[in-house]
Amino acid sequence: MSSSSAPAPVLTEAELKLLQALVYQECGMHFDERRTHFLQDRLLRRLRECRLDSFYSYYRLLISEQGKDELARLLENLTVNETSFFRNKAQLDLFQKFVLEDLLRHKQARRDYSLRFWSAGCSTGQEAYTMAMQVVDALAYYYLRNPLPYDMPLPKPLIPQPWKVEILASDISYSVLRAGQEGIYTENQMASVDYGYRLRYFDKLGDRYAIKKALKELVHFDFHNLKTEYLPKRNDVIFCRNVMMYFDEAEQKRLIDKFYRCLNSDGYLFVGHAESLLGLTDKFQMVHRNSGTAYQRIEVRS
Ligand SMILES: C[S@@+](CC[C@H](N)C(=O)[O-])C[C@H]1O[C@@H](n2cnc3c(N)ncnc32)[C@H](O)[C@@H]1O
Repeated sequence: MSSSSAPAPVLTEAELKLLQALVYQECGMHFDERRTHFLQDRLLRRLRECRLDSFYSYYRLLISEQGKDELARLLENLTVNETSFFRNKAQLDLFQKFVLEDLLRHKQARRDYSLRFWSAGCSTGQEAYTMAMQVVDALAYYYLRNPLPYDMPLPKPLIPQPWKVEILASDISYSVLRAGQEGIYTENQMASVDYGYRLRYFDKLGDRYAIKKALKELVHFDFHNLKTEYLPKRNDVIFCRNVMMYFDEAEQKRLIDKFYRCLNSDGYLFVGHAESLLGLTDKFQMVHRNSGTAYQRIEVRS
């Protein structure tokens, strides 16, 4: 047993290896030499919280049956949750003006009116709600140019009939999922949301902003660990931005393969601006417009 005033236990090379391997096996995050210090700091905090006196006893707790909750807590402490609304504008322009247009045209031609999007590693929800705002606007703009042969019912629904839009927002951290589900953001978090979007998609709640109910209903938050094999299928577009950068190359390749299987044919994958699929797969082709990049799935025989 230890208290926070006791000297910090020493993390031996062997203990570090065990804990690194466990974290990698559980969530795919790879802590190389540059990030060992961060890992050690977070492990120490959790170890003290559990009142244990060595990293090895903490490791034993994590792999035990009764240590399941603590393992989840540790993983939460290791994730980087930085995010914002309208992150990477050039990429979002590509999503709205090219990818969504392409999807709407092709789907309508096939009379397939379902649209499925997935924000994988959604953090506190800003990415998924950004997608929702862009999808709603893209549909409205599409019908402005291709009017329906009948009047839309009033008040106009956010999603015109017969379209069905589902946006899944998933993460490995329960605390960020709760925040996303709540959908309430501070002025600071709203910095990148211009007033047009604020007016249409948010309600003012004291000094904070709440996502309007109709938009919120399009987004469903759920726990998914990207390390596992069984991930949500039949998506038209997957956003997995600023997540893969914490995985090593082998894990990135595995994840890209899983995304391939989780996308509809011709579906699109968006990764972060510091991430790329180059050299990791030949099952996607790069789409690049006005500084925005996405990857489109190519049908290949397995
Ligand atoms: C830096 S945030 C990125 C948020 C958002 N995608 C963006 O780009 O603004 C990375 C998120 O990935 C999540 N994450 C990390 N490893 C994960 C895993 N194995 N499965 C699911 N989510 C994971 C973290 O919890 C964190 O919320």
